[in-house]
Amino acid sequence: MNPGRSARFPLRLRRPVAWEDQRPTWRDASPGLIAAALKRATARPSGNWYVLAASRDIGRDRPFGRTVAGTEVVAWRDGAGRLLAGPGACPHLGAPLRDSRVRCGRVICHWHGLALDGGPFAGWEPFPAHDDGVLAWVRLDAAGGEEPLPRPVIPARPDRAGALEAVWTGVGACEPEDVLANRLDPWHGAWFHPYAFADLTVRAPGDGGDGDGGGDGFTVEVSFRVAGRAVVPVRAVFTAPEPRTVTMRITGGEGLGSVVETHATPLTPGRTAVVEAVIATSGRPGFALARGAAPLLRPLLRATAARLWRDDLAYAERRHHLRRTGRFPG
Ligand code: FES
Ligand SMILES: [Fe+2]
Repeated sequence: MNPGRSARFPLRLRRPVAWEDQRPTWRDASPGLIAAALKRATARPSGNWYVLAASRDIGRDRPFGRTVAGTEVVAWRDGAGRLLAGPGACPHLGAPLRDSRVRCGRVICHWHGLALDGGPFAGWEPFPAHDDGVLAWVRLDAAGGEEPLPRPVIPARPDRAGALEAVWTGVGACEPEDVLANRLDPWHGAWFHPYAFADLTVRAPGDGGDGDGGGDGFTVEVSFRVAGRAVVPVRAVFTAPEPRTVTMRITGGEGLGSVVETHATPLTPGRTAVVEAVIATSGRPGFALARGAAPLLRPLLRATAARLWRDDLAYAERRHHLRRTGRFPG
């Protein structure tokens, strides 16, 4: 791909190829290779940090609640907008604090009015929380069982001042490793999502890929379908910086520097949330205009993620089902 040319004119017209006539990728998509990438990813430290939600999902007037790794969590913001989190049950008689209210930065229990300001109270101990501006994280040491880290492992992101963000959340009947395994199989892209991708080639780790995870990434050349025969070719690198995250970084073509972060958060056994953050950037004139339209574009970006994830969750759920019943071929 010629980056200079594509910077001026990103669209290409592609000779139509019937779905069944594209090159099969199954020989390259070695189960052992995917399993090895998954093993490397899950061996990395997370410091017990879990993605809880999109930052914007946690407002100032209502608490946010979600069960993460079997732990009921409530999160809210103090008067200064700082993220606070802790156990989701009221220390008095166990009311679900997610249904309570926030007043002046404190959660006021809706059963008998007990107020929590985020500090320890009557046996209620806060969880460390971190807001990276796009995502809200919570540290659950008892659930994670790793050496705690002071901050989550956050992938490098484009400068937010010049970026457009959208976060999509979905839930599947699977475990985080099934979500990661789906992401670490980029070969399925043009076959399984023919409405979105075409002409996909993969260089696996150790295959000359220019991964940004110490040569550990999958490098993918792919064309995003726009409409009809029109496509936008890009190069992307997939890496797993921690055991529940896979990032896709655009390293060539349109949207250079953009990042898609897929985070898999275990909820309860056999249920996993996928929280996907798109942080899009572009040197293209007019992108500033697109940023101005962010509230309009966000649902569009989310809709694209939702369509892909409807299929990808089916993949992850299928993998989980086969693993559970001892029939997974990998
Ligand atoms: S249960 Fe919360 S104040 Fe009583
Ligand atoms: Fe996919």
